Amino acid sequence: MSPFVGLLLFFGTLVFSYLEAFVKLFVPVKRKSVSGELVLITGAGHGVGRATALEFARRGSRLVLWDINKHGVEDTAAECERLGATVQAFVVDCSKREEIYSAAEKVKKDIGDVSILVNNAGVITAADLLSTQDHQIERMFEVNILAHMWVSATPTFVFTFLWEHF
Ligand SMILES: NC(=O)c1ccc[n+]([C@@H]2O[C@H](COP(=O)([O-])OP(=O)(O)OC[C@H]3O[C@@H](n4cnc5c(N)ncnc54)[C@H](O)[C@@H]3O)[C@@H](O)[C@H]2O)c1
Repeated sequence: MSPFVGLLLFFGTLVFSYLEAFVKLFVPVKRKSVSGELVLITGAGHGVGRATALEFARRGSRLVLWDINKHGVEDTAAECERLGATVQAFVVDCSKREEIYSAAEKVKKDIGDVSILVNNAGVITAADLLSTQDHQIERMFEVNILAHMWVSATPTFVFTFLWEHF
């Protein structure tokens, strides 16, 4: 592609995006309803995961909550139930592939097909690289990177997601 055509495309896209954003200021897009959706949130026992669970509960979603921390996930489940949501809480260590696979099977068999997945579980080590210990680095990769792959690529879920979105 010639630089001139590239530049023309760039400015065309830019102008179109501004116009689109301007129109949407006055004609907002219809927001998707998540009422009745089956939402799985990992790391739901604390922080962002808990806050997300509460928001979905307020919007009428059904919830499946996973966390390594039993008390945390049970507390979140209790709060969501007080908001009227149907909730199932599981203790799952998302760094362990086999635990994920077996929990996913259980969810599918006993509860149903997950339609929204929030891959949130994570560990944060607030230190610079040289002060971080080897096992902490390994844990970060296991939970913050690999776990997301295991959950998203779980054979039990993959088929449902592909079916829903394509
Ligand atoms: N809070 C922030 O400012 C911030 C910024 C950027 C990214 N994030 C990311 O957002 C996510 C949530 O952050 P947060 O601040 O709510 O953290 P948090 O520590 O408050 O909560 C994380 C939750 O994940 C759970 N968890 C940890 N390891 C797990 C495992 N192996 N299996 C299952 N559950 C596990 C913990 O028990 C906890 O309930 C993380 O992935 C984090 O990296 C947070």
